[in-house]
Amino acid sequence: MAINNLQEKMIHGLGDMYDAEHQFLEAQQEILPQANSQTVKSLLEQHIAETEQQITILEQVYEVLGESPERIKCTGAAGIVSEGQKTLKEVSKSPALVDLAIAGGCLKVEHYEIASYRALITGAQQTGQTEVAQLLQQILRQEEQTAQKIEQSSPELYQQAISKGARA
Ligand SMILES: [Fe+2]
Repeated sequence: MAINNLQEKMIHGLGDMYDAEHQFLEAQQEILPQANSQTVKSLLEQHIAETEQQITILEQVYEVLGESPERIKCTGAAGIVSEGQKTLKEVSKSPALVDLAIAGGCLKVEHYEIASYRALITGAQQTGQTEVAQLLQQILRQEEQTAQKIEQSSPELYQQAISKGARA
């Protein structure tokens, strides 16, 4: 699909993220039963709930723009999801490594989302679409907080893996 102006670029970027959030939601629901530690389970559960909210906020953005929500296949998100699934298969024999792989995959998701939303927010601000920028800021704040939570819980997950003899 050709993109010829800033408004089309904004709609395309939103469609990418609307699709990415759906892909990430499905992937998180799929991996939840594989999580072992309470830390990773709660991280996933909380982020599943937040992703559902974020999808609703994106729908509000479409409403402000007078457009209907439309998923545009996000190949970046698909790549992160399939890489995460591949890693999970590779570590499947060690529960502690599974937890680390889930946390690591989720952190990649968060940073991909943070970069994407920051770019969309700059676009909205520079084109005077204040309400759109504010809605997207709400999503960005959640993504930043989630990334921070994952980063803070990573040392504990490493220590769990070490205590279970995963150091080798
Ligand atoms: Fe998200």
